Amino acid sequence: MPTDKFGRPMRDLRISVTDRCNFRCPYCMPAEIYGEAYEFLPRAEILTFEELTRLVGIFAELGIVKLRITGGEPLLRNDLPKLTGMLAAIDGIEDLTLTTNGYLLGQFAQALKDAGLHRITISLDSLDDEVFKAMNGRGFTTQRVLEAIQTAADVGLSPIKINCVVQKGVNDHTIVDLARHFKGTGHIVRYIEYMDVGNRNGWRSEQVVPADEIIAQIDAEMPLEPVESNYHGEVATRYRYRDGSGEIGVIASVTKPFCGDCTRVRLSTDGRIFTCLFASKGVSLRDPMRAGATDSELREILTGIWTVRTDRYSEERAASPNKQGSPKKIEMYQIGG
Ligand code: GTP
Ligand code: 5AD
Ligand code: SF4
Ligand code: SF4
Repeated sequence: MPTDKFGRPMRDLRISVTDRCNFRCPYCMPAEIYGEAYEFLPRAEILTFEELTRLVGIFAELGIVKLRITGGEPLLRNDLPKLTGMLAAIDGIEDLTLTTNGYLLGQFAQALKDAGLHRITISLDSLDDEVFKAMNGRGFTTQRVLEAIQTAADVGLSPIKINCVVQKGVNDHTIVDLARHFKGTGHIVRYIEYMDVGNRNGWRSEQVVPADEIIAQIDAEMPLEPVESNYHGEVATRYRYRDGSGEIGVIASVTKPFCGDCTRVRLSTDGRIFTCLFASKGVSLRDPMRAGATDSELREILTGIWTVRTDRYSEERAASPNKQGSPKKIEMYQIGG
């Protein structure tokens, strides 16, 4: 199994199955930029189900055990349950999950479960409709997402995680409400520090609410205690309610970066490999595959990319806070976070 320059193996793969989304979260796809006329990838550029399945099989041989389907919004990809079934059948994948904004999940939850999806993560930045309408950029209320969370629980896509990106002055006054709402349900709310992914969201460090502050706000009303990680390299830091009614997590990639344990690799919608969320360049696997490369040739390309990897962007940024990174970083909706 290949390891990178810092001895990190390849364990988790995140695949983006579409670059389209039905939301326009200003921190990811600002509506002013991604309007009606914006051109997303044409069909021919996007990996087919067969290509994705073949590549994931090769990744699994190289050590990938955890697979996450992302987008854009993955439920916009036609026939996603079919792809899910194809991926679920690959040897070696122990954890198969998906990150969605939840808007279309109500209609797909059962089919995804039947196809072999193990669990699901749903993004929900606030329970306050006015805040949520602004944060999804489309004026949608929370109702459909909340109903979808219930449906996902009913069909057994658990443990369900709820992702909340926290932005100062935007939704930080609704942090505690969200925790209170899901306390005791078995669902795990995870608060994510707003990150400088891509180049189009105008990120400023003053907009970040440090994870310690998030925890302090919740702990003041509902006392918390830390919990050990589930596995080496887990992104979220876990806390549980002292009264035993569940847990939450914080993803402190700005204030407490976790590059040291980063075993994640990302495959963009058009089949490029990115070894960091903040990378500007990816290496195409699609092009050699379409030119007739064999499995062993593709394995060699991948091993070659991984063994020279030195990425630790978040740690570098923490060391020099004004670092902006390359002006050509990949956007979140192209690699799904
Ligand atoms: P579990 O598998 O349930 O532990 O979830 P996860 O943390 O792998 O996945 P999820 O897709 O829910 O990611 C939550 C947030 O963490 C997203 O905003 C991701 O962009 C962010 N994140 C995940 N991996 C990385 C990473 O390698 N680096 C940074 N900086 N952020 C990451
Ligand atoms: N910073 C932090 N999280 C983000 N996400 C999207 N953009 C950002 C950002 N700039 C979140 C999504 C989703 C997860 C995959 O990443 O809301 O929950
Ligand atoms: Fe869509 Fe997710 Fe980006 Fe929001 S964060 S615009 S839901 S891809
Ligand atoms: Fe991994 Fe890059 Fe995130 Fe660091 S910044 S944890 S190297 S993806």
